[in-house]
Amino acid sequence: MRKKTEMDYCTILLVLILSVKLCESGITSSYLRNDDLVHDMPLDSDVHITQGDHEGKGVIVSWVTPNEPGSSTVVYWADNSGNLKKTAYGIVLTYKYFNYTSGYIHHCTIDNLEFDTKYYYQVGIGNTTRRFWFITPPKVGPDVPYTFGLIGDIGQTPDSNRTLTHYELNPAKGQTVLFVGDLSYADAYPFHDNRRWDTWGRFIERNAAYQPWIWTAGNHEIDFAPQYGESIPFKPYTNRFFVPYKASDSTSPLWYSIKRASAYIIVLSSYSAYGKYTPQYKWLEKELPKVNRTETPWLIVLVHCPMYSSYVHHYMEGETMRVMYEQWFVDYKVDVVFAGHVHAYERSERISNIAYNITNGLCTPISDQSAPVYITIGDGGNLEGLVTEMTEPQPSYSAFREASFGHGILEIKNRSYAFFSWHRNQDGYAVEADSLWLRNRYWKTTLEKSLTAL
Ligand SMILES: *[C@@H]1O[C@H](CO)[C@@H](O)[C@H](O)[C@H]1NC(C)=O
Ligand SMILES: *[C@@H]1O[C@H](CO)[C@@H](O)[C@H](O)[C@H]1NC(C)=O
Ligand SMILES: *[C@@H]1O[C@H](CO)[C@@H](O)[C@H](O)[C@H]1NC(C)=O
Ligand SMILES: *[C@@H]1O[C@H](CO)[C@@H](O)[C@H](O)[C@H]1NC(C)=O
Ligand SMILES: *[C@@H]1O[C@H](CO)[C@@H](O)[C@H](O)[C@H]1NC(C)=O
Ligand SMILES: *[C@@H]1O[C@H](CO)[C@@H](O)[C@H](O)[C@H]1NC(C)=O
Ligand SMILES: [Fe+2]
Repeated sequence: MRKKTEMDYCTILLVLILSVKLCESGITSSYLRNDDLVHDMPLDSDVHITQGDHEGKGVIVSWVTPNEPGSSTVVYWADNSGNLKKTAYGIVLTYKYFNYTSGYIHHCTIDNLEFDTKYYYQVGIGNTTRRFWFITPPKVGPDVPYTFGLIGDIGQTPDSNRTLTHYELNPAKGQTVLFVGDLSYADAYPFHDNRRWDTWGRFIERNAAYQPWIWTAGNHEIDFAPQYGESIPFKPYTNRFFVPYKASDSTSPLWYSIKRASAYIIVLSSYSAYGKYTPQYKWLEKELPKVNRTETPWLIVLVHCPMYSSYVHHYMEGETMRVMYEQWFVDYKVDVVFAGHVHAYERSERISNIAYNITNGLCTPISDQSAPVYITIGDGGNLEGLVTEMTEPQPSYSAFREASFGHGILEIKNRSYAFFSWHRNQDGYAVEADSLWLRNRYWKTTLEKSLTAL
């Protein structure tokens, strides 16, 4: 984090000053701490990575230099390569928001990496280079175990920090974060103070520079504020967070897909048009048939606004998207849909509500073994606090709900089984406050069919 780095520079300065002045006695240092010490050098910070291609051999490295463009190249080398260094060339951009001008935001895609390999990478120039590392996922395949972390609506409060720490210290060891939207909450500040995007980037760097965070846009990423002359939705978010959307034939970074190990992850945007004939609808319609469950058995959807939630706050906000896409989720046997938005935790039964046709009165969710489990994990700990008010009695579609901050872990074991657990911030790192074995929807029915055929 920035504090630490500043401290390092201060220590270096102090040592320099002391070494100059030690031979004199009784001196008062004439050094005056300068508030804008960082202006002296382009401090590379806000480093974060995400997947950079469709199958996991690419990484996008993004970082910010506050005062000078510096260099957009990333030097990288495999741990096992005998330090054979390679260079990837990126781009730099800046954006303005009201009276804020961003630092120099760098995005550099490294591709054609080896699977399942540790790489070191280095950004920055001169004395300000910083080195990090990441581990590429194993080659895509049906029985490749992989562990995802699930975090949503995190913000940047002491609770956010507890959530991140809890995730980092969870012995289940998440390898990639599936982030379900609402990142910095900069829009909660006067004039959407975009400096809060910078502080947020520095906050998550300690994790997001070492493992990819797969981004989903939430309502706090819209930053639509015509009263300040800002009427382009998602401006700070799309400038700061690049995703590999073109690799999945998407036309927008707000919806896209990736394969990672044994999972196929589809990211949707609750705050972009999703009705029939819209770009997102047409993309998803073509995308779902492409998923090869023999290659990637686990079909996971990330979206910000939940389609099933029984909390009072945001109740039914996901209803219109549910009406559009739930039939597809059932038809294509999506395993699990993760959402945020509601600042609490909830897990649904396997249910669907697709029979209703206006006149038949069939408007209650029913048990459906082809349906996904819907998990709300919007409990990262932002400044808006928890939502605690629940609809009563608990509807039958809701299997478990609790208003506590925490994170989730999805441990894929093989094509048949995955284990999901929810971890409250108050508990020990290994405690599972809720958990469930997920049986793969595609392989469960395929297996049952072949058994009946026997
Ligand atoms: C932006 O405008 C607000 C409100 O006038 C002011 O408080 C703030 O200092 C300004 N920031 C910059 C960077 O000029
Ligand atoms: C790097 O640091 C050394 C020692 O402090 C200094 O002599 C040199 O000028 C610095 N280089 C740059 C590019 O800032
Ligand atoms: C955030 O959590 C880390 C790790 O637990 C801790 O070292 C750090 O002091 C915390 N930061 C703040 C601002 O509380
Ligand atoms: C699905 O993936 C499997 C395993 O990689 C492959 O053998 C098969 O040809 C693929 N099916 C299609 C329709 O591409
Ligand atoms: C709606 O469902 C009812 C009862 O199943 C059926 O009689 C009716 O024809 C359906 N209407 C439409 C437009 O499909
Ligand atoms: C899949 O994983 C589950 C849970 O770890 C295990 O019980 C099962 O034996 C595994 N199946 C195969 C075919 O390895
Ligand atoms: Fe939200």
